[in-house]
Amino acid sequence: MTAPDQKEIEDAAALLRHGRLVAFPTETVYGLGADATNSDAVLSIYETKGRPRFNPLIVHCADLAMAEKLALFSPLARRLAQAFWPGPLSIVLPLRPGHGLADITTAGLDRVALRVPDHPIAQALLRASGRPLAAPSANPSGRLSPTNAEQVRRGFAGNVPVLDGGACQAGVESTIIAVDGDRLIQLRAGALSRDEIGKVMNMAVERAAKGAEIAAPGMLLSHYAPNAALRLDTAPRPGEGWLAFGPSAPFEGITRNLSSGGDLREAARNLFAMLHELDASGVGVIAAAPIPETGLGEAINDRLRRAAAPRG
Ligand code: TXA
Ligand code: MG
Repeated sequence: MTAPDQKEIEDAAALLRHGRLVAFPTETVYGLGADATNSDAVLSIYETKGRPRFNPLIVHCADLAMAEKLALFSPLARRLAQAFWPGPLSIVLPLRPGHGLADITTAGLDRVALRVPDHPIAQALLRASGRPLAAPSANPSGRLSPTNAEQVRRGFAGNVPVLDGGACQAGVESTIIAVDGDRLIQLRAGALSRDEIGKVMNMAVERAAKGAEIAAPGMLLSHYAPNAALRLDTAPRPGEGWLAFGPSAPFEGITRNLSSGGDLREAARNLFAMLHELDASGVGVIAAAPIPETGLGEAINDRLRRAAAPRG
C-alpha cells in the first residue's frame, strides 16, 4: 500500500462534506465514516452495514477543541481527555446545547460518545473535512471489525472508498468510558485497559453493571425510550398520540407522520425527533403505525418494538 497523499485526503473530505461515506483507518480498527451532523449521511452507514438496529455511534473529532463544541466537559472529563487523547478512548458526555449533531447519530440520546483517534490519516481527514465524523467499525453487520483496508474493500464489495493506512496498530475497538459526576464507568472494554486508566487518573474505574441497559431505562446505558407507553397498531384510540407512516386517516389527536409518502429513509430521519415531540405533548400513550420490515424499516421497527416493550 502507499499511504494516501493530501489530494486523496482532500477528495475524501469533499465526499464526506457531500454526505457520502468514506472508510478510514484509526489506531483501533477501520471506521465507516459519515458527517455526524448530516442525518442522511449517518443513515447511509446503517444501509451500507445492513445493520438492523439503531445504536448510538461514536463521533470522531480532530482534537479536544472540536469535541468541546459537541459536549459538556466537566473538569474530570477534561482531565481524562487530556490524559488519553489522541488515543483509543471514547468518552460519553452530555450533549452541549446547539451541538448540531444529527439525532440519528446519538440514537436520540442526550449523551454522545466522543473520541480523538491517534492516527495520521484519521487526523488529516478530520481536519480536511472540518466535520465531526460518526464511524462504527467498517464491516457489514455481524462480521468482524476490519483491521486493514483489504478487509474493508472485500466487506463492501468495493462500494465504499477506503483510505488505506495499512494494518491497524491496536486491532480492537476503543474503550468506552462514561463520566458520571465524579465517577468513571467503563461501558465497553477495549484497547485501553481499565487498570491503565485508573492508574493515570489515580481513581477507580467502575465496570458498568451487566444488563444495566435492560434493568434501568432512562439510565446511562439505555437507549431513548419515551415516557409515554407505546403500542404498535394500525390506528390510534381517542386521547392517544399517533405516530403515523404513509397515507393515514385523519385523527383529531396529536399526530406526527414519519413519512406521509411512505419513504423509509425519511421515516428514519424523523423517528427520534417525532417520538420526542409526541412524548413532550404529554400524551400517556403513543400508538405507532406498522412499518415495512425492509431496509431501514428493520431498524425503525426494532426501535419502536423496544419502546413498546413492557418496562419494569
Ligand atoms: O475503536 C472504535 O471505537 C471504533 C473506531 C472506528 O473508532 N468505533 C466504534 O464505534 O466502535 P461504534 O459506533 O461501533 O461504537 C458504538 C458503541 C455503542 O454500541 C455503544 O456501546 C457506545 O459506542 N456508545 C456510543 N454512543 C453512546 C452514548 N451516547 N451513550 C452510551 N454508549 C454509547
Ligand atoms: Mg463493530
